[in-house]
Amino acid sequence: MAEANDLEQVFENKIDAEEKIEPKDWMPEGYRKNLIRQMSQHAHSEVIGMQPEGNWLTRAPTLERKSVLLAKIQDEAGHGLYLYSATETLGITREEIVQALHDGRAKYASIFNYPSLTWADIGAIGWLVDGAAIVNQVALQRTSYGPYARAMVRICKEESFHQRQGYESIAVLARGSAQQKAMAQDALNRWWWPSLMMFGPHDADSAHSAQSMLWKIKRKSNDELRQSFVDQTVSQAEIIDLEIPDPDLKWNEQRQHFDFGEIDWDEFKQVINGNGLCNRERLAQHKKAHANGAWVRDAVAAYVKGKTGESGE
Ligand code: 3HC
Repeated sequence: MAEANDLEQVFENKIDAEEKIEPKDWMPEGYRKNLIRQMSQHAHSEVIGMQPEGNWLTRAPTLERKSVLLAKIQDEAGHGLYLYSATETLGITREEIVQALHDGRAKYASIFNYPSLTWADIGAIGWLVDGAAIVNQVALQRTSYGPYARAMVRICKEESFHQRQGYESIAVLARGSAQQKAMAQDALNRWWWPSLMMFGPHDADSAHSAQSMLWKIKRKSNDELRQSFVDQTVSQAEIIDLEIPDPDLKWNEQRQHFDFGEIDWDEFKQVINGNGLCNRERLAQHKKAHANGAWVRDAVAAYVKGKTGESGE
């Protein structure tokens, strides 16, 4: 028993000293499980997030917009890869991680269960969804688990390009014809509140935040990050003369933050429990793509085995 206490103490000293926990370090089982949960869901989000954007690849208005969107979607696949690989360092296989998604035991970001109805949605996704992801992921660069923190550093560099290309695209529409401006405003109306939901429930209702903050998995709370996102995005909407769909949005001089309306938490719960507009479609598409890609995985595994004599699993 004394030895286990010593290990726990070493772990806690490292967390207190802001030292990264590495795969070979001893860690509490709860810490490991929480990381697998959050990191695998983060990875699933990156990969499933490719679907709403992929929906517009063949319909991008210019070759330049198409190539920028293609580059972004490829980046997201790479983000999924970094995060799956970082999750595997915790002793779980890729197959187990993906199976949890297919069985409905693992989630992915609620935001990707909304349809991308017009080209303006692609701008709104880059501007708002990647904008929200950056706010969250910049904080996660300081997460206590080494592989996760290092993946975040690489991902954040690419996210800023994602946010800027989205904002530029919707700004062009907002300054275009009356129809284009209406399309941009419609996209903002549909994507604003789901973007706020990306930060999770209020801190008081968050099942994992308290422990995740103690373990420094999370460095800022859900509500803190959401507030930062709102504060930085309001002026961006004003610059392109689009109106944020929240009648309660108002600068609070005393708080030095924007006050904003209440999120529809019933909608949030519906979406994260599989009853959003596109949940079934997104999961069916992922299962189909995974099945279609089995031959590639088998071929790579056979090649690795042939080269090294080891299983490529
Ligand atoms: N979508 C889906 N599920 C959500 C959610 C959301 N927006 N917010 C919370 N949840 C789930 C949690 O996963 C948890 O369920 P679980 O126990 O089954 O995992 C439950 O709701 C309670 O929420 P908590 O606040 O207690 O959960 P967390 O402490 O994990 O906080 C989080 C939620 C803030 C999303 C946190 O998990 C996190 O920071 N994750 C890493 C960032 C991430 O996953 N971002 C997703 C978007 S990635 C992206 O946008 C790609 C970009 O390139 C476009």
